[in-house]
Amino acid sequence: MPLSAEGFDVDGVDVSADMIEAARAQLPASRAAHLSVQALHELRLDRTYRTAYMCGVFGIGGSRDLDNQAMHRAYQHLDPGGALLIIHQLPYDAEEGWPDWLPGHRAGYPEPWPDQGSRRRTVDGDEIELLTRVAEFDPLEQQVVLAMRARLWREGSVVKEESYMLKSCLYFAQEILLMLANAGFRDVVIEGNYTGKPATGDDGNVIFVARR
Ligand SMILES: C[S@@+](CC[C@H](N)C(=O)[O-])C[C@H]1O[C@@H](n2cnc3c(N)ncnc32)[C@H](O)[C@@H]1O
Repeated sequence: MPLSAEGFDVDGVDVSADMIEAARAQLPASRAAHLSVQALHELRLDRTYRTAYMCGVFGIGGSRDLDNQAMHRAYQHLDPGGALLIIHQLPYDAEEGWPDWLPGHRAGYPEPWPDQGSRRRTVDGDEIELLTRVAEFDPLEQQVVLAMRARLWREGSVVKEESYMLKSCLYFAQEILLMLANAGFRDVVIEGNYTGKPATGDDGNVIFVARR
C-alpha cells in the first residue's frame, strides 16, 4: 500500500480472495486490477519485476515442496539483477513456544482452547473473536499445525463460527539460504528487521535480500 501510494508500479497477490478484497478496498479503483488471487507456488503474472516482496507469508499454510516451488516462481518473475525480499520471522523470535522444541515438552498437544481469544470490532459494530491453539508440533519435520476458531459476535451472542487448521513450515535462516541458492539466487544478504544492517543472532525477524 505505501509503495503504491508513492506512485510505484506495484502488483500484489495473495491466495486468499478475502485478503485481496480487503486490499482492493484500500486502493484507488484505477489500481484494483493490479491485485490478484494466486498461490505463490503457482505464481503466473505476465511481466517481470525489479523487486518482489514476500511479507509475512513464507512457510505459511504449505509444505517444503510448495515453498521451494514458490522460490522458483519468484525467481522466474524477476528481471536479471532484480531482488527478492523475504520478510521472515525466525522460529526463535519468541520465548513462548520455544520449549516445544525440547524432548518431553509436547505431551499437552493439542492444547486446550483458550477461554478467550483476541477481539476486533467490525465496521458495522459486530465483533470478531479469533481463538488459536497449537494442535501439533513436530520438531523433526519443523512443522506446526494451528487450530483456529473465528467467532462473529453480535449483541452479546455468537451468530457464526468457522474453524480452520493452518499448517506452517518453520524455517531457520540457513535452510532459507539453501533454498534461495537452489532456486538460482545469488548475492544473498540477511538484514535485521527493517534496519538495513546485517542481521545478528539477536534478530528474531530478518529480511533476506536475494538477487537474480
Ligand atoms: C500474516 S498474513 C500477511 C499479509 C500481508 N502480506 C501483510 O504483510 O500484511 C499471511 C498471508 O499469506 C497468505 N498466504 C498464505 N499462504 C500463501 C500462499 N501459498 N500463496 C499466497 N499467499 C499465501 C495468507 O492468505 C495471508 O493473507
